[in-house]
Amino acid sequence: MTRALPGGALDRLRGAHEVEVWPGDLPPTREELVAGARDAEGLLCLLTDAIDADVIAACPRLRAISNYAVGSDNIDRAAAAERGITVGVTPDVLTDTTAELTFALMLAAARRLPEAVRDVRAGRWRTWEPGGWLGQDLHGARLCVVGMGRIGRAVARRAEAFGMDVAGIGRGDSLHDALERADFVSIHCPLTDETRGLIGAAELSHMKPTAILVNTARGPIVDTKELTKALIDGRLGAAALDVTDPEPLPADHLLLKLPNALVVPHIGSATHRTRERMADLAVDNLLAALTRPGP
Ligand code: GLV
Ligand code: GLV
Repeated sequence: MTRALPGGALDRLRGAHEVEVWPGDLPPTREELVAGARDAEGLLCLLTDAIDADVIAACPRLRAISNYAVGSDNIDRAAAAERGITVGVTPDVLTDTTAELTFALMLAAARRLPEAVRDVRAGRWRTWEPGGWLGQDLHGARLCVVGMGRIGRAVARRAEAFGMDVAGIGRGDSLHDALERADFVSIHCPLTDETRGLIGAAELSHMKPTAILVNTARGPIVDTKELTKALIDGRLGAAALDVTDPEPLPADHLLLKLPNALVVPHIGSATHRTRERMADLAVDNLLAALTRPGP
């Protein structure tokens, strides 16, 4: 295991197998990861661990990889499949929690909560201001959901309850047409070769200058440099990001200085209950794969 996990799931693993847990608060380096996993039959890893073909090749006994995440872009699944290694992820248990964070970001950006909080703390709340801290409505606004999988659909359901007009975009739909009409754009597709850089200069240029972009999927789906430029130039209203590229952003990154950019530290699934359910599922996945007879 590349990190200790919340809850008691680890005890079930310890009951059945010999378990080694990386003790650091930061991910192991590549060398530390390989040194720890070299003789392992099972690997329970995080989205911060790059399990590429070389790492897989360095672990000849590996039969099961269980990712503590719903995404699996950190794992070379083709290299794993070639070796007959089972790969598990943690879908469903985090769907609604991630959709809730998406709404927290959408509302916070639309109503400028970070700026408002900062101003109150700084003593700038002098009176009720008719024209102060004006933001945008969700009701009546058009939301474009990019990627209508489990999380995208959960966001769309909530958006309808908020009185938003929802357009779901999947493979083969015209992204540019949808972006032109959207007041809010929320990204919910996985990171693949196809979606890397999906929101770049051309896409940003198709968006309304008042539009709000929300990303709770994976940072590299959005071109960080182009996004930063668009926010600075006033070609995009605001961005609310749970994920970035690189991740984390360096503390002096320009994006963190912009009043119309809101960045939180990849906390889409970060509730006590959901992180425990993810740990349970990741351990279930690992136990199931290790119990299966080898190839
Ligand atoms: C988090 O980003 C996950 O993939 O679970
Ligand atoms: C706001 O508090 C209002 O009464 O309009």
